[in-house]
Amino acid sequence: MAEMGAQIRTDEGRTSEDIKKDFFQTPKECTRALIDWIKEYEMFTGEILDPCCGKGAISNELIKAGYDVTAYDKYLGASGIDFYDEDKHYDTIIMNVPYSHKYLFLQKAFKVADKVITILPNQIINYNMFFRDYMNTPTFVGKILLTPKIFMSENPELKKGGASSYSWFMWDSKHNNEGVSKEWYRNLLDFTKE
Ligand SMILES: C[S@@+](CC[C@H](N)C(=O)[O-])C[C@H]1O[C@@H](n2cnc3c(N)ncnc32)[C@H](O)[C@@H]1O
Repeated sequence: MAEMGAQIRTDEGRTSEDIKKDFFQTPKECTRALIDWIKEYEMFTGEILDPCCGKGAISNELIKAGYDVTAYDKYLGASGIDFYDEDKHYDTIIMNVPYSHKYLFLQKAFKVADKVITILPNQIINYNMFFRDYMNTPTFVGKILLTPKIFMSENPELKKGGASSYSWFMWDSKHNNEGVSKEWYRNLLDFTKE
């Protein structure tokens, strides 16, 4: 029997606490702001995969907007599909990565899809590895900076005033930014109405 308070070890050496910590829902406004950008720039269409959909916070907004979306999650919901086992090819991945797996998820995503978009806190750019290997590459299209700062919690509703601002970071295997990636801005308060 597990000791009181002991963490249950799961596959991949992750504890039950690790899994819980990695479940943060994307406020709907973040996805609506991304959809607004996609429509303006006519990019990132085609068959979309959300490989870690949680309770569907991102994928439901995409489906409502008319996109062709496949969504699953290893730990939540009935599918139990592990993204690392994915062998199909998709046009685009749109996701909110489990933070403790961010690099592994991105590496897998680049193999599975031509275009990859993930939401991440802006502090990520201070990590040398992320900046050097993921932003300073020809395939990095740029980021959509979302204001204001928000709370990313277990609730998909927008709560202002959190510790972090977030961006959608975007890559396209057919893109060559020649050293110049772009930054766009969206105010989440413009996307509170359905
Ligand atoms: C940050 S949450 C994002 C949830 C949802 N996409 C959203 O934005 O509300 C990360 C999710 O990744 C899932 N996850 C972690 N490892 C996974 C794996 N190997 N394959 C598929 N899903 C995984 C977790 O269960 C969790 O729901």
